[in-house]
Amino acid sequence: MLGNDDWWRDAVVYQVYPRSFADADGDGTGDLKGVRARLDYLAELGVDAIWLSPFYTSPMADGGYDVADYRDVDPMFGTLADFDALVADAHGRGIRVIVDLVPNHSSDQHPWFRAGLRDRYVFRDEPNDWESIFGGPAWTQVEDGQWYLHLFAPEQPDLNWENPDVRAEFRDILRFWLDRGVDGFRIDVAHGMIKADGLPDAGQKDGPQAEMLGDEQVPYFDQDGVHDIYREWRPILDSYPGGRMAVAEAWVSSPERLARYVGPDELHQAFNFEFMMADFHAKSFRTVIEKSLREAELVGAPTTWVLSNHDKPRHVTRHGGLARARAATLLMLALPGSAYLYNGEELGLPEVLDLPDELRQDPAFLRRGESRDGCRVPIPWTSSDGLGWRDPWLPIPAEWAALSAEAQRDDPGSTLNLYRAALGIRKRHPALGGGTLTWLDSPKDVLAIERDPGLVVVLNTGEQPARLDLPGEVLIASGPLAADGAIPPDTTVWIQR
Ligand code: NOJ
Repeated sequence: MLGNDDWWRDAVVYQVYPRSFADADGDGTGDLKGVRARLDYLAELGVDAIWLSPFYTSPMADGGYDVADYRDVDPMFGTLADFDALVADAHGRGIRVIVDLVPNHSSDQHPWFRAGLRDRYVFRDEPNDWESIFGGPAWTQVEDGQWYLHLFAPEQPDLNWENPDVRAEFRDILRFWLDRGVDGFRIDVAHGMIKADGLPDAGQKDGPQAEMLGDEQVPYFDQDGVHDIYREWRPILDSYPGGRMAVAEAWVSSPERLARYVGPDELHQAFNFEFMMADFHAKSFRTVIEKSLREAELVGAPTTWVLSNHDKPRHVTRHGGLARARAATLLMLALPGSAYLYNGEELGLPEVLDLPDELRQDPAFLRRGESRDGCRVPIPWTSSDGLGWRDPWLPIPAEWAALSAEAQRDDPGSTLNLYRAALGIRKRHPALGGGTLTWLDSPKDVLAIERDPGLVVVLNTGEQPARLDLPGEVLIASGPLAADGAIPPDTTVWIQR
């Protein structure tokens, strides 16, 4: 609840991808007024905070992760007044607001780049061998023959963090949003910004040099100097009341390296993407949970669990169906730490796999043939009338009428009501949220965890029903249980001992 400085430690944070969430003005693109209009939905769902993916002024070369003005709202998303109203209304419902900060690169439409202020970007006479994460070289040549660095799309020139003007600008941007009342920041490419001295070649590799959410060691990621930046930022966050926090999107090579981003003088949390990468199998989940908990111990902050976001195929599709997705979600929500949900997962939305190529907008698709558009399809709110959208920026599959928030609202067996119920129990139950876990003995394809006091969580990833001798009351199950109490395949239960 508001007022507790450590709120983020066990918070459930709901990621809003503004373009796709809810459209108040009917132009086919979601907007801040749309988010504001859905705050009651989010309060009923039971989330503690929302994280807004970028809504800043942007030509949208990378869905808003190409920022042209860090202190304004793009007209397609609304105005600063809309933002202020959203924060006020969210806070009024006890929902905190985290915003995305994109410091590694700006848009090529940013006034600095347009004005040719080359010392604020990374310009060289000759390129090196670095590759863009979206595919192709990370360098683009300008008219006079020089090259600029862009680890992502050419429309996203990397900022030069050796330049004190860049540092001063971002300290000021932090204050700008903190003054407007934001509760935290999600730091995009938090392991970027500082590049190895002299920009050495990365060297030949089979396959891509580095990937989104990969853990390669390359001279443009996870350089020691990046920590000086966070040591500059932390006192700024700490100077505001109410527990303002920052969570790093950092892809680094080891838990020890990740731990360096988190702590009392740097950032509060770092995303743990391993859980998202795990296979739907008891062993795979156990391995990453154990690793993540060790990591959390190292950093002295509970870990962040995530199953879906705007960069990876939705977990219904990744894990092979809705039953498995629901089971994975109930497992995640029972683990110690905070959990990040991605808009639409509470409706059990699958990845859209058959978007026509000409509608795909992800710059990675054009350069590398991989597209993240399928997890960015607008959210179906109603079962008729365009599912709550007029001419949405990506088409919504007609069969999603059955998955709409409206269709699921009053259905006790719906995924929406599973999420609501699980979040409600999580909020009330003393064993959930923070704390530790104990592994219980279980058959090979079954995970069994005890959360103190008195909660047992069992996930069956095998092909046969699991019969465990676990007396107690079932608080919630991700799917129907057998009459004899056996836990069917692809099912998680929370049992009160
Ligand atoms: C990570 C973001 O999550 C992704 O959507 C974006 O393309 C890159 N960073 C570049 O900003």
